[in-house]
Amino acid sequence: MADLDITLLILSEHDAFRRAFTEIEALTDAADLERRWTELADQLEVHAAGEEEVFYPALLRKVDDSEEDTEHAIKDHNKIRDAVSAVARHEVASDAWWEAFRAAREETVEHLEEEEHDVLPPFKDEVPEDKRTEVGMRWLKFHEDHEAAKGLSGDKLDPKAYVEENS
Ligand SMILES: [Fe+2]
Ligand SMILES: [Fe+2]
Repeated sequence: MADLDITLLILSEHDAFRRAFTEIEALTDAADLERRWTELADQLEVHAAGEEEVFYPALLRKVDDSEEDTEHAIKDHNKIRDAVSAVARHEVASDAWWEAFRAAREETVEHLEEEEHDVLPPFKDEVPEDKRTEVGMRWLKFHEDHEAAKGLSGDKLDPKAYVEENS
């Protein structure tokens, strides 16, 4: 069941986000932009909240010295949440909207790369496959329960308190 490995499920969403940002960048119609952006913004929230609920607690428990990377990731999630909310403050397709969109893209892509370099490889190396699959199944269930960000507050977390509570 290697395809339910949490590290692969996260990676595949990262790739989908990169594609979605590129696709949106190519759109011009305001209604299309609004629809696609809203969809992506919801998916980004499900992803971040899912990592906070399912992945980072497992990382903290299973991988030694992962506190600093986790705290950094939660800070990044907060920055992404701010950058995504900032997009909604502008008229869709205006210059200011595009500027906010690109800032959100930059913030997101930088974070995805950091997770892919600093966090997913140690988890894959140190956690056995059956456990990675179990976390992957909980990740899929979280997505099922929160489709289109249903039931998620979008609230930011306190990074230090999060690490303490989940260690
Ligand atoms: Fe993340
Ligand atoms: Fe991620």
